[in-house]
Amino acid sequence: MRRKIITGNWKMNGTIAGTEALIKELLAGDFNPERTMVVVCPPFTSLYVAAKLLETSPIALGAQDMSQHQSGAYTGEVATDMLLTVGVSYVILGHSERRQYHAEDDRLVNAKAKAALSAGLTPIICVGETLEQREAGQTEQVVGQQVDGTLAGLSADLIAKSVLAYEPVWAIGTGKTATPEMAQAVHKFIRQEVAEADAAAAETLPILYGGSVKPGNARGLLIQPDIDGALVGGASLKAADFVAIINAV
Ligand code: PGA
Repeated sequence: MRRKIITGNWKMNGTIAGTEALIKELLAGDFNPERTMVVVCPPFTSLYVAAKLLETSPIALGAQDMSQHQSGAYTGEVATDMLLTVGVSYVILGHSERRQYHAEDDRLVNAKAKAALSAGLTPIICVGETLEQREAGQTEQVVGQQVDGTLAGLSADLIAKSVLAYEPVWAIGTGKTATPEMAQAVHKFIRQEVAEADAAAAETLPILYGGSVKPGNARGLLIQPDIDGALVGGASLKAADFVAIINAV
């Protein structure tokens, strides 16, 4: 059985003081870490302090992006080594906001995934269609291309060490969630697509759902057979809501 993973994507929210307060509230929350892997992804500037606070807790730390390069003249970028030294073990890659506002494409996300995996970080690779694409009946075509493109050239071993996140762009931050059936259908399709590369890796690969996950809709999504967890934006900024989502597993 695949272990469930609940990840909080805090996006560009919170100073160091805000991170400290939110993590302290989370640590005081009542949830069973053995059943669920919990990951929080604060902004870069808060990672160090978050790592210190999480040191003795089962909650893992993630970053929201990274560079595909190891070091050098890449102004504004953050490399895998820098993330590792502050205690990061997961990294979100190819989030739709990176694709939309920073022109990231599958080729770049693929290069980042390779760099993350070779450094020992677990990439959480995001895919998902826009509303126009869904309405034009292109969901499988778009998501299939993103899956193939972002996983291109990865061995079965490396695919098995990755995490995918299906985040329909139209559901992110909008309050509109895919119904559990809609999400399950795409998750199943993604697993089949990965199985074409390697059936065993597809079976173990966690596929998270993201897009307006809230305490009220989490359970319906998380009981679907191919939904292995959630990537939570807005609701992860409220400790009580995030803990309720963890406990929905
Ligand atoms: P949301 O964001 O939960 O606020 O919709 C999800 C995400 O962008 O990862």
